Amino acid sequence: MVANLIDGRAIAAQIQLELAARVANLKARGVIPGLAFVRVGEDPASKVYVGRKEKACAELGLVSETHILPEKTSEAELLALIGKLNSAKHIHGILVQAPLPKHISEAKVFSTVLPTKDVDGFHPVNVGKLMLGDESGFKPCTPAGVVELLVRSGVKTDGAEVVVLGRGNIVGKPMAAMLCQKGKGANSTVTICHSATRDIAAHCRRADIIVAALGVAEFLKADMVKPGAVVMDVGVNRVPDATSKTGTKLVGDVDFKNVRPIAGRITPNPGGVGPMTIAMLLQNTVRAAEQFLTN
Ligand code: GUN
Repeated sequence: MVANLIDGRAIAAQIQLELAARVANLKARGVIPGLAFVRVGEDPASKVYVGRKEKACAELGLVSETHILPEKTSEAELLALIGKLNSAKHIHGILVQAPLPKHISEAKVFSTVLPTKDVDGFHPVNVGKLMLGDESGFKPCTPAGVVELLVRSGVKTDGAEVVVLGRGNIVGKPMAAMLCQKGKGANSTVTICHSATRDIAAHCRRADIIVAALGVAEFLKADMVKPGAVVMDVGVNRVPDATSKTGTKLVGDVDFKNVRPIAGRITPNPGGVGPMTIAMLLQNTVRAAEQFLTN
């Protein structure tokens, strides 16, 4: 067995330990970090994700509240709730779980959350700060988690050729923006590949680091990976599986079994990037509470 796994669970646990000291410090000063979740509709994956995030808040001693709205909620009703959460003193972070129902504009919703409570890093002000390399903003949790995994695993990003598979607003685009900045855990030469890219395999084969975030089950195959490359798997895809009780199973965007022997380092999935998304959300919320105290 090749000992090349990047253990996201262990690294996330370490971060949560570091955050516990900051939470204790805040509590000593009379502030308990508060995070509000908003979920619209009954998307099964969103229910699971929000459930995991609530549990992580409780374990770290944060206060969380979850607002579950019916699928038919109007955009105006959702914006009104966000307005209330924006002015609630006990709430330092707001997370509106995506995807939202089709009749609601995600862009409008994300830009209504106060930038100082935008622990998802989706508000245009925070997106702009990310592009500018202004560290005062909040960064989106999943790509921030990938950077943290690379740094804490000692992966050299400086001068590295990175391929990001996927150009979504939640992972692909911010991931590329983070890795091309000047600084620690960055300074890379970044290529973004997407559905119109002519020869994705050729790009991947040049890469020292591949971040797979395109949402296609087991897309990255062994013959697309340079020996020794670092592979970070962001994907969560439900596929049929006759051997499981539910008839389905979750797989990433990487053909893990066949890529692992070739990769220098690789994230397992589950147990790689997923726990880091939550750790980064907790970190952003603790920072939002700290900033609330100093402002
Ligand atoms: N849906 C998938 N990933 C995310 C995320 O990081 N934040 C929110 N709000 N929704 C998501």
